[in-house]
Amino acid sequence: MDTVPQLAQDRNAPPATLVIFGASGDLTRRKLLPAVESLARHNRLPDEFALVGVARTAMEDHQFAESALGGRSLADKPQLQGGGVRYVSGGYDNPETYKRLAEVLDELDATRGTAGNRIFYLSTPAEAFAPVINGLAGAGLNQAREGSFARLVIEKPYGNDLRTAHQLDGVVHAAFDEPNVFRIDHYLGKDTVQNVLALRFANAIFQPIWNRSWVDHVQITVAETLGVGTRGGFYEHAGAMRDIVQNHVLQVLALALMEPPASFEAEGLRNEKVKLLQAIRLPTDRDIAEVAVRGQYTRGGTRQDLMAGYRDEAGVDPLSRTETYAAMRLNVDNWRWAGVPFYVRTGKRLPARVTEVALQFQRPPHLPIPTNQLTELDADALILRIQPNEGISLRFGAKVPGHSFRVRTASMDFSYEQTFREESPEAYERLLLDALLGDPTLFIRSDEVEQCWRIVDPIIEHWQNDMSPIPTYEAASWGPTDADRLIGRSGRKWRNAV
Ligand code: BG6
Repeated sequence: MDTVPQLAQDRNAPPATLVIFGASGDLTRRKLLPAVESLARHNRLPDEFALVGVARTAMEDHQFAESALGGRSLADKPQLQGGGVRYVSGGYDNPETYKRLAEVLDELDATRGTAGNRIFYLSTPAEAFAPVINGLAGAGLNQAREGSFARLVIEKPYGNDLRTAHQLDGVVHAAFDEPNVFRIDHYLGKDTVQNVLALRFANAIFQPIWNRSWVDHVQITVAETLGVGTRGGFYEHAGAMRDIVQNHVLQVLALALMEPPASFEAEGLRNEKVKLLQAIRLPTDRDIAEVAVRGQYTRGGTRQDLMAGYRDEAGVDPLSRTETYAAMRLNVDNWRWAGVPFYVRTGKRLPARVTEVALQFQRPPHLPIPTNQLTELDADALILRIQPNEGISLRFGAKVPGHSFRVRTASMDFSYEQTFREESPEAYERLLLDALLGDPTLFIRSDEVEQCWRIVDPIIEHWQNDMSPIPTYEAASWGPTDADRLIGRSGRKWRNAV
C-alpha cells in the first residue's frame, strides 16, 4: 500500500527501535549517529524511541550512547539517555547474536514503549548483508507482531552487478516483503536533489523547454576533491562506476529527465524513474570505446599540497586497474529526449567539489548581432547546483553597458542559503525519518536497482576485459584527456568550474 505523503508538522517518528548493524563502523559514526542525534534535538523522535547498535567490536551500552550523542549533552532527550541506547556485540553469522538482540528488543518494548516497531539498518560491509538478514529471519525478527512493523534499511553497494543484486534480492525477499525494504541512496535525501522535482513539477515555465526541441545536451557532474582516503580496500572492488555512477548519478539523471508523475505518491514517482532508466540505450560492446571513458589519478597537486597517486593509497594494489574517474555519453530513447546526448562524469581528486546538472539550450536559430560583438557568449544554460553553493543559475546573454552593442553571458542566481536562511537537514536525517514513517518515496525499488546495473554492467565488463593500460590523470586535474575527446567529438565541451 502506498503511503500518503505527510505534512511537515506530521513528520514525527512513531514509537520504534532503530537497530544499526555495523554500529562501530565509519558510516555509523560519521552519518547515522549524528542524524539520530539531530532528529532527537529537533523533536522528531518520540520519547518511546530506542537505539540499538550491533557489531563485532566489543563495547558497553554507555560507550555506544556516548558516541550517539557525539559529545553533545541532550539531558532533555530521554531517547538517547539511560536505557534508551543499547549495544549488542557478536558475530553476524552467530545465531547467539540475534537471540541476544531479540531479548534486548523485547526488553525495550516493555520498558520504553517502543511498541514492537523495528527498523533494521544494515550499515555493514556488503559481505555481511546476507548473514545479517538470515540471522534476523532465524530469530524471527523479520516478522512484525500484529499492528507493528519490521523494516529493513539497506546501504549500498546493493550487489556488485546485476547477477549479484538479483541474488541479494532473493535473500532479502525471503525474509522481508518489498514494501518493508528501504534501499538507501543518500543522494535522494539531499534537499537539492529533491528540488529537481520542485523545479520541474511545481512550476509551469520550465516544462515547455524541458525536451529535445530546446535542450542541446545535458551534463551531470559529480566531482570530488577527495581521494579514496582510508577506503582503499573497499574502493579497489568498486571503482567510480559502481561507487557513484550506478547509484547517485543515475538517480539524479532519472529525476531530471523522467516524465511528470501524476502525484508524488511513492509508486507513481518510482514508476516514472524506472521508465526513464529503461529508456536509456544500453551500450553494446562495440560502441563502449565511443561512449565511455575511465581514468585513474596519479600524483599531482602543487608543491605545497602534493597528493599521492591512487596506486600509492593505503589498501590499493600498486598495479591497480580500478577507475577513479568515469565519464559516459548516454542516449534516452523516448519522445522527449531522442537525439539529445547526456554526458555524465564523476571522479575523485578533481580540482573542485561540485555536483550539478546543467541543461545547455540550443543556440538561437539566427543571430542578428555581428560575431565580433559577442564577447564570451555561451549557449543559454540552466544549472542545478546540488552541492556545494546549493542553488540554481540561469545563464543567458545580456548587453554589456556602454555605447556599443556588445553581448556577454550573464547569470541569474538562486541561492538556497540566501533565500531560505535555514540549514538543510543532512541527507541521512531525512531518510532515517522517512524509513521510520514508512515512506518509501526516496528509496530505491528492486526493479530500479536492477535497471541501473543493466546500464553500467556492460561497461564495467568491457573495462575488465580490456588489458590496455588504464588512462590516467594527475590529481587536481579535470580527468583524462579521453574524457575531453568523448564530449569533443560532437563539438561540445565540459563545463569545468575552475
Ligand atoms: C558515497 C561514495 O556513496 O558518496 C563515496 O561511496 C563518496 O565514495 C560519497 O565520496 C559522496 O557523497 P557526498 O554526499 O559527499 O557527495
